[in-house]
Amino acid sequence: MDEITEFDFENRIVSSEFNGSDGDVENSLRPKRLDDYIGQTKAKDNLKIFIESAKMRADSLDHILLYGPPGLGKTTLSYIIANEMNVNIRTTSGPAIEKQGDLAAILTNLSEGDVLFIDEIHRLSRSIEEILYPAMEDYALDIIIGKGPSARSIRLPIPKFTLIGATTRSGQLTTPLRDRFGVLLKLELYTPDELATIVKRSASILDMQITEDGAYEIASRSRGTPRIANRFLKRIRDFALVKGDGKITGELARYALGMLEVDELGLDNTDRKMLEAIIKFYGGGPVGLETLAATIGEEPVTIEDVYEPYLLQIGYLSRTPRGRCVTRLAYEHLGLPYVPNTQNNQRSIFDE
Ligand code: ADE
Repeated sequence: MDEITEFDFENRIVSSEFNGSDGDVENSLRPKRLDDYIGQTKAKDNLKIFIESAKMRADSLDHILLYGPPGLGKTTLSYIIANEMNVNIRTTSGPAIEKQGDLAAILTNLSEGDVLFIDEIHRLSRSIEEILYPAMEDYALDIIIGKGPSARSIRLPIPKFTLIGATTRSGQLTTPLRDRFGVLLKLELYTPDELATIVKRSASILDMQITEDGAYEIASRSRGTPRIANRFLKRIRDFALVKGDGKITGELARYALGMLEVDELGLDNTDRKMLEAIIKFYGGGPVGLETLAATIGEEPVTIEDVYEPYLLQIGYLSRTPRGRCVTRLAYEHLGLPYVPNTQNNQRSIFDE
């Protein structure tokens, strides 16, 4: 099927996953204090209390698990937490820790009170998780010395630290690991108002002129995700400089996003093709995640973590026990005639 070759998941401007070119700007735009962090009010209000209390007790923070779709500011929030606590932060990720010794080295090099940030913590291997349990609970490293009958375990103390784990899928964490986090914070997709405020803040840091209308145009097409909003801002600046007078107006943002093939809702060709594939090949669904993944040549987890959250949020896709279904709204958006399928769009009590 030649349709498959048309999917280009890697290079989407609307991808919420971090790509190398986000790095420089993302760092410069990162707020440093909780008061500068826009949105996520619930998580932020709770964090303020926990930070203040830890400071009053002159203690370190409990271990924190941050979860939610990519691009919502889990790393940013971790840096802010370390900054607010006046401690150092050491960052790594689940897949980067290959051997038990890698984690042991990181843990023994921490200072009292430091934050250890582990991104994609659900990807830690079991043998490495086992090192983490006593470290989180008792601030100790259990090391086996020797082999066979003479092997013995010794316990080394490590500094009291705060582990901040970030994951797009808290359900994939093992129960013993999840249970060792004292604080679980879910990050939600941002509202257009919050994103417009973020866009205006970023534009001001980058010394760009933007109108209210321009900021809202970007916000409403950013799929609830600051990383996407900031990426759009960079690209639209190029159009503003070359095609306009450098100022980002609503009209210019609409023109630039049109050129980038991002529609009014923030869907790009890939989203549209995924929805069309479900309609064309599976009568609008239900289609199982694995089957859909194979059809469009993508990993099931990427569909679940990266593409689906926004399509579910805007009501274009529904999840049923028998698979994914495209809704009437999506047919209308794509300009396709809606053909109700008897199995289709019946939301079930099992829907998440
Ligand atoms: N830049 C990216 N995410 C942000 C947020 N939540 N608040 C402020 N600036 C941001």
